[in-house]
Amino acid sequence: MSTGTHLGLPDQYGVAGHPIAHSWSPFIHGMFAKATAQNLVYRLFDIAPEDFRGEVLRLLTGGVRGLNITLPHKQAAAELVNELTPRAVRAQAVNTIAYFDDSKLLGDNTDGVGLINDLEQNLKLELAHKRILVLGAGGAVRGVLAPLMERDPGQLVVANRTPARALALAREFSDLGPIVGCGFDEIEGPPYDLLINGTSASLQGEMPEMPAGLIGEDSICYDMAYGRGHTPFTLWAKSLHAKRTTKGWGMLVEQAAASFALWRGIRPDTKPVLEALADYH
Ligand code: ATR
Repeated sequence: MSTGTHLGLPDQYGVAGHPIAHSWSPFIHGMFAKATAQNLVYRLFDIAPEDFRGEVLRLLTGGVRGLNITLPHKQAAAELVNELTPRAVRAQAVNTIAYFDDSKLLGDNTDGVGLINDLEQNLKLELAHKRILVLGAGGAVRGVLAPLMERDPGQLVVANRTPARALALAREFSDLGPIVGCGFDEIEGPPYDLLINGTSASLQGEMPEMPAGLIGEDSICYDMAYGRGHTPFTLWAKSLHAKRTTKGWGMLVEQAAASFALWRGIRPDTKPVLEALADYH
């Protein structure tokens, strides 16, 4: 792992996804690097699924020391690395790759800790005994299920457009506690304490049709997607008078801090970055 500071060429990092132009990760890692005096650059890499393996290996052997991995590559990244951290093994999805000097490619997943830190530390939510509904069953959701279940929720339901994927996920994580998988039309009330949107529907400007009765006046609705203004999910939640709606800015910053710590051996303070980003919500 490099600990280089001001001398020499900057170490190279970046995020690989498709699409990727909307990403705020360069801004976040740029602030972290400045605050911790780390000499690094962080770039966007738009890589189509069919080119993922070849391009990532080319970047890493060409000097890039670490990559964040985002939609739709998180599961492909888990297959590409030589070693997974325990939490990435559990998720079978990778959002962080570190390339060490001994040529080892390590895959980690910091999405779960990113979401939990945002929910507990930034939003001051208590998760134990709460009824939680997670929408989606892709790479983003894979990373957050185990950390959510470790908080001992009263109930965890995973619902997906393709029900079979939600059922498979529920089976895969059932050793950690009670978890149910279903299709959207099978989700049952009463209203959930916490609803988390982990689908990529918001990115397409869509909100899938949901049954009535999932949101009440005490429900907190969290969209893992981030951007300016409302997402289709937060608009839907607002229209049903949810207590609070939040987008995934905090999760983004917290997962980035955990990735940065893996790469650089130094944990940046997330607070100044969260404050800087608040203007862009
Ligand atoms: P990510 O890494 O963001 O999870 P992914 O693995 O491609 O990306 O998963 C995308 C998730 O969003 C899936 O749960 C997908 O549902 P399917 O399993 O049915 O494909 C969900 N999704 C994408 N577009 C959607 C839409 N328009 N409505 C509902 N769900 C959608």
